[in-house]
Amino acid sequence: MPATDVLIIGAGAAGLMCALTAAGRGRKVELLDHANKAGKKILMSGGGRCNFTNMYTEPSNFLSQNPHFCKSALARYTQWDFIAMVAKHGVPYHEKKLGQLFCDNKSSDILDMLLGECQAAGVSLRLDTAVQEISKTDGGYSVNTSAGTFACQSLVIATGGLSIPTLGATGFGYQVARQFGHNLLPTRAGLVPFTITDQLKSLCTELSGTSVDCLVSCNDTNFRENILFTHRGLSGPAILQISSFWQPGDAVQINLLPDHDALGWLHAQQAERSNSELKTLLGEIFTKKMAGLLCEQWFESRPMKQYTPAELAAIASQLSGWQLVPAGTEGYRTAEVTLGGVDTREVSSKTMESLKSPGLYFIGEVLDVSGHLGGFNFQWAWASAYAAAQFA
Ligand code: FDA
Repeated sequence: MPATDVLIIGAGAAGLMCALTAAGRGRKVELLDHANKAGKKILMSGGGRCNFTNMYTEPSNFLSQNPHFCKSALARYTQWDFIAMVAKHGVPYHEKKLGQLFCDNKSSDILDMLLGECQAAGVSLRLDTAVQEISKTDGGYSVNTSAGTFACQSLVIATGGLSIPTLGATGFGYQVARQFGHNLLPTRAGLVPFTITDQLKSLCTELSGTSVDCLVSCNDTNFRENILFTHRGLSGPAILQISSFWQPGDAVQINLLPDHDALGWLHAQQAERSNSELKTLLGEIFTKKMAGLLCEQWFESRPMKQYTPAELAAIASQLSGWQLVPAGTEGYRTAEVTLGGVDTREVSSKTMESLKSPGLYFIGEVLDVSGHLGGFNFQWAWASAYAAAQFA
């Protein structure tokens, strides 16, 4: 039976980082994945340019039932540490906006960097390898796989969450957690588009492809970014962000005029351009098509002078506080992240080691730590992996 110091299951962002770091400090590392390629999500990420970290990463950018858990690892491997690795490899990158760092070229620059580091450190990477059974032994763990049985001192679970099954996602990490007595927090899709099925569906379909800068709020949280109308409902960065705070049945509020005091603006238009139609004025802010459709669905478009104060107040409140209840989300099929997962109250925040089963580690998205949109999820993968690799 091949014996190794550290066996890591899952060669995604966290698994690769953990492997190169543990091997870099002299540990013998086996890295297994059931997929035919390592780091498939890295390749898909950031629209093919991998938003690999965020310059403004803070613990407040993460959702978890145990919000303090992420602090220690994030402080010990920061965005600047990852940026230093990227710079050492000469990978060209740029800030897109809001501290989000993207590759200038392709996501494969990041994957190649991680694979190159793994190779240089002597990591043994085995793809197309299915894990059949795990058992605890005196010296660690025995892992039965399609490539044989491995004995290891430390077993690291880096199998990620449930989002995008076609990229290799499985619930395997949760199964292992359950096997070793861990509590699991309910999982749901995060950073995911909303579906709309009520009378708003036709508006979304007709405006499909239109993007608008908005302030989107739900459950005391808000994000100022673009929303995007789609054939199925609403997407775009502001919607993806708020989806992580949304529960079925909750209303979402959208301010379509975040730079205006809507009522003040309407009054000013009535005073200065009394013969202009509402549709024409809205067409100067939104596209003409959107202005026309909003007027068709929500208000009767008339010359501004014809609106009563009460009507102007109603229009202002609709434009600045559009309330809608999404039918649901697109689910794990398109979600960027899985919320919930392994309860971090049973994992050491210093080492990522299980408090239930010594020598077992959980890193990355399988844990109940999920980042906002903008490079935070990768930063969590790097940081949690680095923490575990110091001890595994
Ligand atoms: P990850 O999912 O990366 O890796 C898990 C690995 O485990 C996979 O290789 C999988 O094949 C393997 N595995 C699963 N089950 C297994 C089993 N039973 N046996 C063996 N292996 C198994 N984040 C960000 O910060 N910036 C971004 O730009 C993006 N963009 C983005 C786009 C898209 C389309 C998605 C879906 C997600 C993102 N994300 C992102 C989120 C980010 O990709 C995600 O949070 C990290 O990849 C999580 O890293 P992990 O290593 O934990 O899991």
